[in-house]
Amino acid sequence: MMEIQLWRELLDPYQLAVDELLLKFNHVIREHRMKGKYSPIEEVDGRVKDIVSILEKMNRKGVLMNEIEEKIEDLAGIRITCQFVEDIDRVVNLIRGRTDMEVKYEKDYIRHAKISGYRSYHMIIYYTVDTIDGPKKIHVEIQIRTMAMDFWATIEHSLQYKYKENIPQHVQQKLIDASQATVDLDRAMSDVRDEILDAQNSHRNKEILVRDILSNIQNLYKLANEREIAKIQDEFYKVYVLDDLVQLQHFAKQLDIISEGYRAQSIF
Ligand code: GTP
Ligand code: MG
Repeated sequence: MMEIQLWRELLDPYQLAVDELLLKFNHVIREHRMKGKYSPIEEVDGRVKDIVSILEKMNRKGVLMNEIEEKIEDLAGIRITCQFVEDIDRVVNLIRGRTDMEVKYEKDYIRHAKISGYRSYHMIIYYTVDTIDGPKKIHVEIQIRTMAMDFWATIEHSLQYKYKENIPQHVQQKLIDASQATVDLDRAMSDVRDEILDAQNSHRNKEILVRDILSNIQNLYKLANEREIAKIQDEFYKVYVLDDLVQLQHFAKQLDIISEGYRAQSIF
């Protein structure tokens, strides 16, 4: 059995990696919010694997003492939760593009869920920490998942713990059903998001259109007579209260034609 002090020394660089990566991913969140942008990362969490879990995994996988760092790739673990499935790809690309993280391999348990029903995107990366003995390149496991996937995994993990890997068949089936429910929930939330983004978009389009129309009418003050302008303004209010983007676009086009006419007259 390894001395506890030796375990500490072995795991210390992993603790440093977790601390640094938490700082960096939290900064990614902050950078987005500072710029008023939506952050694809909702929350980030991290841990160093505890000694009991390491021993249990060594046992399960037949890993020798001197092979720990090479064969146990999740001594350092980072978990990133996202609001929407679409955010996961953005986070994956963000990690792929970083110069301080080198992807070793990825496992897509979202497009290919595990038989248990487990869903998440895993990336095993190399990350270099600087120690007093110089730079040290280590493995880090990054798990990226939605809040629904995280909810499922947390509950299932606690049941695994309770049943010690002998989860009764009917409970396993319920978990598989619950996993499907997280697929449905993630999809439903994505649909809601799309609709909200569409609504925000069309609101923005309307704002731009109204601004253009108003500036067009203002320009007409210099060219057209008062009666004409009053008529156009009346027409605009009528269309405006209909709250119909297509009608508004039609009005804007008509107004453009009228303005063009006046501009042509004023040139000659
Ligand atoms: P482990 O030996 O369990 O680490 O598995 P592995 O080395 O073959 O890698 P895998 O990608 O299967 O799992 C890595 C990690 O994903 C695990 O340590 C868990 O944190 C998580 N995970 C994988 N499968 C499940 C699952 O069925 N349920 C839950 N709750 N988590 C899982
Ligand atoms: Mg693991």
